[in-house]
Amino acid sequence: MPNTASPFKMHRLSRTHLVVGAVILVALYQSLSYMRSSYVAEPQNGRDAGLLYHFLGSNTTQPTQPLKYVSSSADLRKSSGITVDSIGQLIANANTTFEDLMAKKSTSLNEAANTYRIKRGRHPPPGFDQWYEYAISNDAIIIEDFFDQIYHDLEPFWALSARDIRDRARNLGMHVSILNATAEANTGWFWHVIWASMINEVAYMLPNMVIPLNAMDEPRLMVPFEDITTFVAEAHNHRVVPHPEQVTDTITGWTDNVEPDQPYLDIEWSQSAPLSFARAACAPDSPLRSEPTALHLNMAVQPEHEQQLNFMLDGFIRNFTLASDVCQDASIAAYHGALTSPLTASTSRDLLPLFGGSKFAVNNDILIPAPMYWNGEERFDVQDENPWSSKTNRATWRGTATGGRHNALNWPNFHRHRFVALTNGTKYSLADETSDRIFTSLQQRSALSPLPANLQKNMSLWITKHNDIAFTDMFCDIPSEESQCWYLSNEYAVTESMSLSDQYSSKFLPDIDGNSFSGRYRSFLQSNSVPIKATLYREWHDSRLISWKHFVPMNNRFTDYYAILSYFVGCDEDLCGSDGKYDGHDSEGEEIARAGREWAEKVLRKVDMQIYAARLLLEYGRLTDDNRDSLGWVEDLKYEDLKSVNQTTDVADP
Ligand SMILES: *[C@@H]1O[C@H](CO)[C@@H](O)[C@H](O)[C@H]1NC(C)=O
Ligand SMILES: *[C@@H]1O[C@H](CO)[C@@H](O)[C@H](O)[C@H]1NC(C)=O
Ligand SMILES: *[C@@H]1O[C@H](CO)[C@@H](O)[C@H](O)[C@H]1NC(C)=O
Ligand SMILES: *[C@@H]1O[C@H](CO)[C@@H](O)[C@H](O)[C@H]1NC(C)=O
Ligand SMILES: *[C@@H]1O[C@H](CO)[C@@H](O)[C@H](O)[C@H]1NC(C)=O
Repeated sequence: MPNTASPFKMHRLSRTHLVVGAVILVALYQSLSYMRSSYVAEPQNGRDAGLLYHFLGSNTTQPTQPLKYVSSSADLRKSSGITVDSIGQLIANANTTFEDLMAKKSTSLNEAANTYRIKRGRHPPPGFDQWYEYAISNDAIIIEDFFDQIYHDLEPFWALSARDIRDRARNLGMHVSILNATAEANTGWFWHVIWASMINEVAYMLPNMVIPLNAMDEPRLMVPFEDITTFVAEAHNHRVVPHPEQVTDTITGWTDNVEPDQPYLDIEWSQSAPLSFARAACAPDSPLRSEPTALHLNMAVQPEHEQQLNFMLDGFIRNFTLASDVCQDASIAAYHGALTSPLTASTSRDLLPLFGGSKFAVNNDILIPAPMYWNGEERFDVQDENPWSSKTNRATWRGTATGGRHNALNWPNFHRHRFVALTNGTKYSLADETSDRIFTSLQQRSALSPLPANLQKNMSLWITKHNDIAFTDMFCDIPSEESQCWYLSNEYAVTESMSLSDQYSSKFLPDIDGNSFSGRYRSFLQSNSVPIKATLYREWHDSRLISWKHFVPMNNRFTDYYAILSYFVGCDEDLCGSDGKYDGHDSEGEEIARAGREWAEKVLRKVDMQIYAARLLLEYGRLTDDNRDSLGWVEDLKYEDLKSVNQTTDVADP
């Protein structure tokens, strides 16, 4: 997140401080079995339809297939070179994807419960009716897919006993607890205070519980792939849909105090960079894990050919879920600072019930809406008063050089540094003369090939004309005067910061990760401009947002940036000449800006975050109850059952 310092960042603490911080943060805990995540657990299709009406006894298990990770080769599409027509195709496809999503809307409690059982393979948790009522009375759009992340995050925990999860939670230290329908933070850390007030809005429908919350920007848990696979398989034994008469809605769960014989557990936190943890957490056939030398090749010498990335279509992102998955790019650490040089690192390979605002696809942290979004800080929450037509035909970005701990050697591998360099026309024009570390021949070739010849001839001027992008602080370990770092003063200018409303005078708003996710994304979606989004982070809202419909997705290597921008802004006569000039697709840009804003007003409201948190914590409440396999909400079925029982009685008892 930009600028928002955690207690561990404010003073750019040393390792020793970090260890002390980690000790304060975390109680101790030891040698548990390991797990991890990268499956999407869904009931086997063939069984779905009959699920509701086939109670095969109190312990019906819905067998599910182990989830296969996307293979890097099977799905690979050969690129025939980038063409801007591909964007038109991707935009049209996005409309269909969005319509398919909207068609899944639930319009009644029973329909929502039905969809739940089919998709999740369990009865809804106790309190589901209250949750539904809350969502409906707040005009929420209810689509079960919106909550997929919750099930992805919680599923492996079913392999642990409820008591074990409670013990692990109590040992994690900093938390928000719910006691007698009131949520309270046990720390004064401002994130936790905000989280507590968000949770308190919905605490009336939640049982007692302890919710450990991450206090760092960076995600914390990476359980090895093999371990998580085992735990997900075990979790399937708890996918039961017992007969309604065997279901209860009485939660006993958490007592308000320490439980008898509660073990004091020792958790091992590693302070090394998360890259090797991430590799171990990726599927064996994924690029990051199966091609471990790619990174070193990329960092040492530029490879001759850029490998085809299987989430791209003709050079553009066709699957944003894959594009933002660290496992899918073997060389990702050469393009993103957070994996090799995070500002702070404290990673465990244990499965712990730790909640946080963002994570990599391979982290096992449990996502909950980030405090900064819910709080609506002024810095990140500004109404955009400018209509599209009043905006300048260019991209604007301001921010600090965060993204990790950069130094004189590694800075060209940092995402923000790379982006600010690539959008600097002067740098571009100098690249041939000075062997520039970012404008390598590789970067130039792959980024330029899709562009019209006339534009390529005037790239430097075109970049300058359509980009207004600069750092406002270099975020150096040892800052010299004017927030500069000694090794970057020839590379970047430091400019005044710019308010969000001033940034909104541009039609295009690139959004790049900082030390973790970028806290401006929600505001950008709410604006009348088009967010151009690159990220490696998962957030609570991901399944609500459709790429090319609500935002423009960008590859973390940024090789698609020039082509994306030229598609929307075109090239005027002054730069491309009368024979080479062409119009951009302005109305497509306007449509994405409009669709993103309208959708954000419907599904990214503060109350939507509360609705998400409430659903998440209802599940967590059941998961941590000793009686969890028979807990559920079945009022809808009891009624139907009774009817059928009565009918049977009528027939059998004349
Ligand atoms: C997508 O849908 C919007 C709104 O329904 C419409 O205005 C737009 O023309 C559609 N775009 C394509 C490419 O089908
Ligand atoms: C919570 O409610 C229970 C039952 O109403 C009551 O016995 C208990 O004292 C309450 N605890 C607190 C901390 O208010
Ligand atoms: C993206 O890829 C994932 C993993 O293969 C798949 O589950 C998902 O359906 C894909 N999404 C789209 C929009 O194609
Ligand atoms: C653009 O690049 C040039 C050359 O490296 C540099 O002097 C200048 O400060 C850069 N501009 C910005 C806004 O970073
Ligand atoms: C590039 O732009 C400059 C400035 O507008 C113009 O004078 C020149 O003719 C352009 N070059 C080409 C090849 O179009």
